Amino acid sequence: MRIVLLTGAGMSAESGIPTFRDALTGLWARFDPQRLATPSAFREDPALVWGWYRWRAARVRQARPNAGHDGIAALETLGHAVTVITQNVDDLHERAGSSRVLHLHGRLLSSRCSDCGARTVPDPIVAAPLPTDDGAREEPPACAHCDGGRLRPDVVWFGEALPDDAWNAAQEAIAACDLLLVVGTSGLVHPAAALPAIALLRGSPVVEINPDATGLSTQADAAWRLPASRGIQRLIALLRGSPRADARELLAKRPS
Ligand code: OAD
Repeated sequence: MRIVLLTGAGMSAESGIPTFRDALTGLWARFDPQRLATPSAFREDPALVWGWYRWRAARVRQARPNAGHDGIAALETLGHAVTVITQNVDDLHERAGSSRVLHLHGRLLSSRCSDCGARTVPDPIVAAPLPTDDGAREEPPACAHCDGGRLRPDVVWFGEALPDDAWNAAQEAIAACDLLLVVGTSGLVHPAAALPAIALLRGSPVVEINPDATGLSTQADAAWRLPASRGIQRLIALLRGSPRADARELLAKRPS
């Protein structure tokens, strides 16, 4: 079966990485995205932005893939063609062993020059000493390849375009899938939030895995109110129990 997973911050919550919009624990409850996650924020206060992303990179380095990431990687060993489309900037899908991961919002563990785009090796965004608390102001290093450029995190900020290659591949994968699972995303950030509509319009089955309701819940064929790890375990149990069933037959079965 061609299985596509669209994942968001809830996918990594059980690895200890905070989401963005959960009340109290979400990053945007504690930090102002306008001061930290826009091109103008970086222009106005590069040290604040660089220091904050260095802190987030350090948290990701310490985190481990959870049972949900592991289960998604295991789908490939069950013989399915799996594409992971993630809004997450961590590398936990890759570390769990997923072989095809499309990063719509870039990668936190890498940086590039804000002027010429060149990368510095080894990457200073993960250079020692890694910040331990909420991060501190830290001047971004100068680019070694051009005159005057500064390094910035290789993530997509508000107001920036998504990488064309990942975006185009994501749309193609969803258009051709037999089953789409939407895991741990509030579905509030576009254009990623528009991707499930491609599967819905084509009549492909869509399952949401999220402890809370979202705008997608009533449109999806099933909304499993579970954390990512347990939702993926349920999927694997269904696939193991009926290896030859198509996605709609699977969803018709009573969950164990
Ligand atoms: P959000 O923080 O908006 O949403 C996280 C979702 O995960 C919510 O719907 C939660 O109910 C759900 N959730 C929480 N714990 C979960 C768990 N254990 N298992 C499954 N689901 C759980 O995060 P995103 O939707 O990923 O963009 O946010 C999208 C984008 O907004 C991010 O990529 C980021 C952010 O601003 C940029 O930085 C460009």
